[in-house]
Amino acid sequence: MPRREPTLPITQQLTLASSEITKQCDIIPRVAMVLGSGLGAFGEEVQDRIVLPYSAISGMPLPRVQGHAGQLALGHIGQVPIVIMEGRAHMYEGYSAQESVFGIRLMLRLGAQYLIVTNAAGGISELFAPGDLMLISDHINLTGQNCLCGPNDENLGPRFPDMTSAYDPELNALAERIAVEQGQRLRKGVYAGVLGPCYETPAEIRMLQRIGAHAVGMSTVQEVIAARHMGARIMGISCITNMAAGISEAPLSHGEVRDTADRISGRFAALLNQVIAKLH
Ligand code: HPA
Repeated sequence: MPRREPTLPITQQLTLASSEITKQCDIIPRVAMVLGSGLGAFGEEVQDRIVLPYSAISGMPLPRVQGHAGQLALGHIGQVPIVIMEGRAHMYEGYSAQESVFGIRLMLRLGAQYLIVTNAAGGISELFAPGDLMLISDHINLTGQNCLCGPNDENLGPRFPDMTSAYDPELNALAERIAVEQGQRLRKGVYAGVLGPCYETPAEIRMLQRIGAHAVGMSTVQEVIAARHMGARIMGISCITNMAAGISEAPLSHGEVRDTADRISGRFAALLNQVIAKLH
């Protein structure tokens, strides 16, 4: 069951959790990152690595999906202090939108100004192939939920945050430049965030195609809303792990998602290492 601290307002929950972390680690992160399904290996890139299991952090929801470690890693990539969520709790596991973004708020509270969100996603654009990396240019929130519903805490952010440039154009330009330098193909497109946990039907994918989505997944949109609320600069990368339902004839499986993410992990790490190093 989701763990809640029902008596504490969110800012006090964040104070409690962040003090638990700062007692064990004096790194003040500049960059925060979330690693999606199968992408956890990137955490090994972190130097001076300190790892805290989510279970040791008050209020942190625990992921229960295979391929999601459920631990926070702090350290450095190059000169840049970083905090990484290795695994995330999804709304389809029964967490509310607010609970699902607790880790994001916590990493920003620890001091991070940048957020890099990553995920596994199904490719909707027929130009894409499994194994592609897609820079997220924008998203469509189709979860039917919003983590900002309820009373707004003005200490965290405004009641009505602007989402016009949620995915930071300068960060996207940086990632595109680095991809060119590395000779990597980097796709770009709109991520549709759905609730899950079943994969979509072919009819749903045709609808997503028509409303302008290039990839679909079950995470990320709430995290980006929460991080925008708190004023972070955000970049998002989707690993296209499979073609979405009906785009290819093949049935979808979580095994395929993990295997493809695993296959991409070298290119993914090369790109992100250099992007992060530039955020000093
Ligand atoms: N649909 C939704 N979420 C996903 C997919 C998909 O095809 N692949 C990986 N995550």
